[in-house]
Amino acid sequence: MFSFLYFFHITGLAVWLGSLVSLSILIILINKILRFGELTNKFVQIINKMIKWVMNPSALVILLTGFMMTLQMEYTSETKPLWLKLMEQAGGLILILSIITFTIQSNRISKKMISKGTAVIHIESSKLYSSILPLMMITIILILGVTMIVSLKIM
Ligand code: HEM
Repeated sequence: MFSFLYFFHITGLAVWLGSLVSLSILIILINKILRFGELTNKFVQIINKMIKWVMNPSALVILLTGFMMTLQMEYTSETKPLWLKLMEQAGGLILILSIITFTIQSNRISKKMISKGTAVIHIESSKLYSSILPLMMITIILILGVTMIVSLKIM
């Protein structure tokens, strides 16, 4: 059971970090394209769907499998290594904040799109996306920070 949870914990991490990195690259490219024209809202919907159906669910998988593994471990609060405590606490906080903030941002974009109807998304949407990009960059740095602590196994 533990190995099964471990597999999903690492797979969730790969998908979460991978989707964050690829969406960040995509957003940078969108902004470059928008300087020269407009983008259809179909493209914006794809990014919204990636956040809702790939990024957030994989973050939830990491959180749930992490907690289930913790329950199966036989550490007390004194014997638990520092890297594990940091992963549980800092990692858990990053995961929860990421799910909340990206859900809020994604809903804001959807609302903006509905109010614009089925027409093309104009340059304002690029401003909206540049508000998501710093959030994504910060999340990527924080995830890499936790991964570094876990890899170094800081006691
Ligand atoms: C940003 C969030 C997180 C990242 C990047 C992350 C990363 C990792 C990595 C790389 C491993 C493999 C470590 C190894 O065995 O060498 C691991 C294992 C594990 N993680 Fe996480 N994790 C995160 C969140 C969490 C959370 C929130 C929990 C618990 C509440 C958790 C609990 C565990 C447990 C129990 C293991 C197994 C440790 C062992 O086998 O000794 N993780 N995690």
